[in-house]
Amino acid sequence: MIQPAAIAFSPEGVPYSATFDDIYHTTDGGLGQIEHVFMAGNGLPQRWRERDTFTILETGFGLGLSFLTTWQAWRVDPQRSTRLQFISVEKYPFQSADLARLHASWPQFTELSEQLVAGWPALTEGRHDILLDGGQVQLTLLLGDAQEQFPRIPDQANAIYLDGFAPSKNPDMWSPALFRQLARLAAEDCTLATWSVAGFVRQGLTEAGFTVSKAKGFGGKRQMLQGRRTAQLEAD
Ligand SMILES: C[S@@+](CC[C@H](N)C(=O)[O-])C[C@H]1O[C@@H](n2cnc3c(N)ncnc32)[C@H](O)[C@@H]1O
Repeated sequence: MIQPAAIAFSPEGVPYSATFDDIYHTTDGGLGQIEHVFMAGNGLPQRWRERDTFTILETGFGLGLSFLTTWQAWRVDPQRSTRLQFISVEKYPFQSADLARLHASWPQFTELSEQLVAGWPALTEGRHDILLDGGQVQLTLLLGDAQEQFPRIPDQANAIYLDGFAPSKNPDMWSPALFRQLARLAAEDCTLATWSVAGFVRQGLTEAGFTVSKAKGFGGKRQMLQGRRTAQLEAD
């Protein structure tokens, strides 16, 4: 049974989740952090160039801002991969009308948002593959709890965005079991990035089979985390 997210805003006007008592993106509009942490942190756009398919996996679809930012950068890149697959999981998805309303704050995404909203599925638990941009872009939306959804998919990711609200407020999205699933879904060249440098996140990722290191953070955050699949990992 899927429970949709309810629209709410923090005093600064940022979309806010009462369920998790956390905001969906940074107060500067979020896009700078997405470009710096998730994209550059995973070596994008360079790493998707001259490829057939490039697959990104995200923990927490939220408003889909990371997806829209990535898709926009991909479609204007003349050297982009033939296909882009973006896998994301969401336990409390927005209804399509709410997504459209929220996306209105980013007019640069109007065309992409309209495509996404038109293809938005009925909110039923499980896997929904949504084809966009004439089929070149595939959004694989897993509706439900990450812990239940990730073990059910066979896909292989080349890059991972870790974005499941603050680890202190939502440890479920940063658990050792979830990190083991990410390692199972990681292709040999897989990288990851997140704005969190919490000790238990670094330890959990390392134990699951990623090599992580700190890098310069974005805006008010001094540091961020980058990682890659550790060589010789035996996927279980
Ligand atoms: C910081 S927001 C993600 C923002 C998003 N990446 C974007 O670009 O808009 C974190 C998201 O994780 C979702 N979430 C939290 N716990 C979850 C869980 N256990 N399984 C699946 N999704 C979860 C929340 O509902 C929320 O939408």
